[in-house]
Amino acid sequence: MAFPEIILSPISKTTPDTLLLPFFKAEKKENEKLKEKKEGPGYEIPVLAGKKFKELADIENYLRLSQCFSGKKNEISLMRAYKLGNAHNVGLVGLGQRSGLDTEVARQVGAAIYQFQKRERLPTVSIDIQGMWAATRESKRVTTLQALCEGYYLSSYEFREFKKADQTLFHPHGIELVGVKGKDCEKARDKARHLVEAMFFAKVLGDRPSNTLTPRELARLCQEMSKGCGIQCQVLGRKEIEKEGMGLLIGVAKGSAEEPQVIVMEYRGGRKTDLPIALLGKGVTFDSGGISIKPSDRMEEMKYDMMGAATVAGIMQACATLKLPVNVIGYIGAVENMPGGKAQKPGDIQRSISGKTVEITNTDAEGRLVLADLIEYAQKQNPQAMMDFATLTGAVVVALGSVTTGIMGTHKGLLGLIKAAGELTDERVWELPLYDEYEEDLKSAYADIRNSGGREAGSQKGGTFLKFFVDKKTPWVHFDIAGSAWDRKDKNYYTPKMATGVMIRLMAQLLQHWKSLK
Ligand code: BES
Ligand code: MN
Ligand code: ZN
Repeated sequence: MAFPEIILSPISKTTPDTLLLPFFKAEKKENEKLKEKKEGPGYEIPVLAGKKFKELADIENYLRLSQCFSGKKNEISLMRAYKLGNAHNVGLVGLGQRSGLDTEVARQVGAAIYQFQKRERLPTVSIDIQGMWAATRESKRVTTLQALCEGYYLSSYEFREFKKADQTLFHPHGIELVGVKGKDCEKARDKARHLVEAMFFAKVLGDRPSNTLTPRELARLCQEMSKGCGIQCQVLGRKEIEKEGMGLLIGVAKGSAEEPQVIVMEYRGGRKTDLPIALLGKGVTFDSGGISIKPSDRMEEMKYDMMGAATVAGIMQACATLKLPVNVIGYIGAVENMPGGKAQKPGDIQRSISGKTVEITNTDAEGRLVLADLIEYAQKQNPQAMMDFATLTGAVVVALGSVTTGIMGTHKGLLGLIKAAGELTDERVWELPLYDEYEEDLKSAYADIRNSGGREAGSQKGGTFLKFFVDKKTPWVHFDIAGSAWDRKDKNYYTPKMATGVMIRLMAQLLQHWKSLK
């Protein structure tokens, strides 16, 4: 998969196939809104975002007559064989209302342009974005440009490894953004590129089926990625995992023919004396449910049950390519959850590294078991903060849908920083509470805790189970990405069905501006 090219130029230097003209949707004034209520909607000519030119009157006339384009967000209209400047065609691009232009709109417009080029088979386009630039608050201009690039790059994602080559598919060559210059702009584009590359790494891991993406293959790919960007990577196999005493993780792996793996990636970009930030990922390469087997309807989606691991791997790549000023250790627990003859059974009791005992009341609540051992393992390095990523509960999809990631944790300050990074990157997070009362349902008559308890507040109970293994002194936040990690229809820059790669942009933002927690 080749990335499309984004060229930044102060004045147009290319001879594009198509010249794109950006338009704002006309802003309605209050009294006009009232009038519209009485008389029904009228057509208002969109406003060119940028310098006027003499042929514009012509185009506006045509729009007035045809009413074919309103300038609403992501609307694009092609005027084929309408020559303007060097270009063979003209395309009208809707930005929505001027007052609504923000990073998320820019990201979506970037995606819409790429998809339009692909659909209409336009190899190169050029668009003057000075009008967009001028309409954006000065402090937001560079990040808005970055977002536009992110959307454009993200849209080029494809997963066709298992499809026969399709000669009729068209891949746009790129876009020229006119009216921007300088080191900051180049940096913003390159940052977008590095972030999207890290997201693509995570997306491919997710989209690959579990018969090819086994725990060992996941480990191999993490090693390959680490080698490529100067990260230390160490992999523990079954023997070493047993030696570490990770009885909960081993318990999950027991029913599978695939060997479990614990992958440890270390990036050092901070000061020598800075304690590491620990990132933990649930890497269940397939979740059949085990003996508490899942219904077959949509079970194929459980190949995505390793998206927490993919997220951690993607964040590690982003840390290295963006040279973020922190020390980070990524831990992945890679296992397959299967109902084999040696599988653990409901009622079994397993032991964590520290010796905490868990009654397995549901073998399908396996992600928390994998993470619990990783939490105890990571805490040996005395991390200054710990965050875990997991497709942990179906309940989070019921509660929040796919449009946001559920977060919960023990440290208000860290939760606050995560929410702020979410705002800046347009990656939504929504906090769920970890009230002490939830602990009641996880009490076991036979062991220190049990791994499932009742259908109510399923996501918070997952979080509460994890919290049981977290040291009081370690600031910790859990990200439940079960809803947000794949098949999102709410954003045009995510490929339908496929993995999304959420939380990598948010985490890069958080780590870039990391300050030690109070
Ligand atoms: N991997 C699933 C959670 C999941 C379900 C993610 C659907 C995405 C879509 C997890 O291992 C699981 O099975 N959780 C159980 C927990 C329950 C048994 C306590 C669940 O959510 O039903
Ligand atoms: Mn499960
Ligand atoms: Zn699972």
